Amino acid sequence: MTMQRGVGAGVTDYWNGRAPRFDGVASHVARRELWLAVLETAFQADGPKDVVDLGTGTGACALLAASLGHRVRACDGSAKMLEVARAAAEEAGLAVAFQDATIEEAEITDASADIVTLRNVLWTLEHPMEALLKAHSILRPGGLVLVSDGLWSVAPEYRSTYPEALAARLPLHDGLTEAAAQDLLTQAGFSGFRSWQHLFPTSPYPGNVPVFVLTARSLAR
Ligand SMILES: C[S@@+](CC[C@H](N)C(=O)[O-])C[C@H]1O[C@@H](n2cnc3c(N)ncnc32)[C@H](O)[C@@H]1O
Repeated sequence: MTMQRGVGAGVTDYWNGRAPRFDGVASHVARRELWLAVLETAFQADGPKDVVDLGTGTGACALLAASLGHRVRACDGSAKMLEVARAAAEEAGLAVAFQDATIEEAEITDASADIVTLRNVLWTLEHPMEALLKAHSILRPGGLVLVSDGLWSVAPEYRSTYPEALAARLPLHDGLTEAAAQDLLTQAGFSGFRSWQHLFPTSPYPGNVPVFVLTARSLAR
């Protein structure tokens, strides 16, 4: 049974199962141009940068970043989600270095990135702070983290269908507010917050679930 194999294995099983249908319902496919415009502005990049997308799934943010001309690496714990991501990158003719590894295990050189993205990932982690600390360590000093997530608990259509015992192990399973994300990012060593969700002319998620797109800069430790 999944829970006997641990939380990470349960999460990976879930996403392996959802992978073939995920892009069919995903906001980044239905609203690709909106996300592209918002990420382009939020990245505040003055040329090609080194971008790492943590928990890339089917490669949404990674592919958008690559299409903006950035050099992109990405990881995910679900091999099936990555299969979809790799196929999408190939079809789009975009080069992304995908790594089949959890955020915790991914081999990413410290201080090797200018931008790290985590979209809709914190809510599904057993140890979200570890992921933010990893983001901090792989960023160059002054580098930019972009976190996007939402308060998924307010919208029944966005509730995860994780088994109850698995969901209970995830501290942010209900989703999170921008203020909560700021608190976590501050603890992880980030400052200089800017929000970008106001740039969406309409909510990127049908049902108006409160979502945010937040950037911050890594402070030197
Ligand atoms: C809701 S999807 C979001 C995917 C993508 N970031 C996006 O915005 O479309 C969550 C993803 O997080 C991945 N994930 C969950 N826990 C992970 C971990 N510890 N390390 C790496 N990936 C993880 C899952 O496999 C899944 O692909």
